[in-house]
Amino acid sequence: MNILAPSILSIDFNNMGRDIGRLLESGIEYIHVDVMDGMFVPNISFGPPVIKCVREAAGDAKLDVHLMIEEPIRYIDTFKKCGADMLTVHAEAAVHLDRTVNAIREAGMRPAVAINPATSIHVLDDILPLLDMVLIMTVNPGYGGQELIPYTLDKVRALKKEIDSRGLSTDIEVDGGVTADNISDVVDAGANVIVAGSAVFKGGNIEENVKELKAKI
Ligand code: DX5
Ligand code: ZN
Repeated sequence: MNILAPSILSIDFNNMGRDIGRLLESGIEYIHVDVMDGMFVPNISFGPPVIKCVREAAGDAKLDVHLMIEEPIRYIDTFKKCGADMLTVHAEAAVHLDRTVNAIREAGMRPAVAINPATSIHVLDDILPLLDMVLIMTVNPGYGGQELIPYTLDKVRALKKEIDSRGLSTDIEVDGGVTADNISDVVDAGANVIVAGSAVFKGGNIEENVKELKAKI
């Protein structure tokens, strides 16, 4: 089953509770939450108090929390307390990636690892069986509204092949630059969890945008 995961980085923060309600009404099951620290990525987004509000508004939807922060192991319990269901850390940001992934699982969340466009999927060769999901970044992380980098879909294809050849059921998530025009290509490449920020919230037409994107996956 393919899942659309709207990124609330592009939500109208003055009406966040209302617009999360609109996502739920549109049949959304995952909400993607982008945490940026101004170190691992140049931008700063939001932290635990805001995520607690998202959790309160999100009903039965799963919170898919994407940490773009240095040494995320420091904050695993914090994000568990905020209500994260899935916690994604960047391979490039964690010195002890195996320890970090295990700590996420021990805290009771589903662990995932993200890799930047320029990072090879082979950094995950040894820990792939430990992961519930791999996030292939299709833009350089830090900002919404960028264009998808085409070669990243080759990485999705290669990872899908690797997962299948090992008989694993690891989810493949993509994040960045997904639009109604390219979402079918992303799914064809092998991704099954699709993040979209600006494409979901553009023009404030959440219901129409979600319907169009969902129809294509
Ligand atoms: C980028 C974030 C994304 C971002 C996607 O660093 O991880 O989740 O919100 O936004 P769009 O879909 O607009 O590229
Ligand atoms: Zn993200």
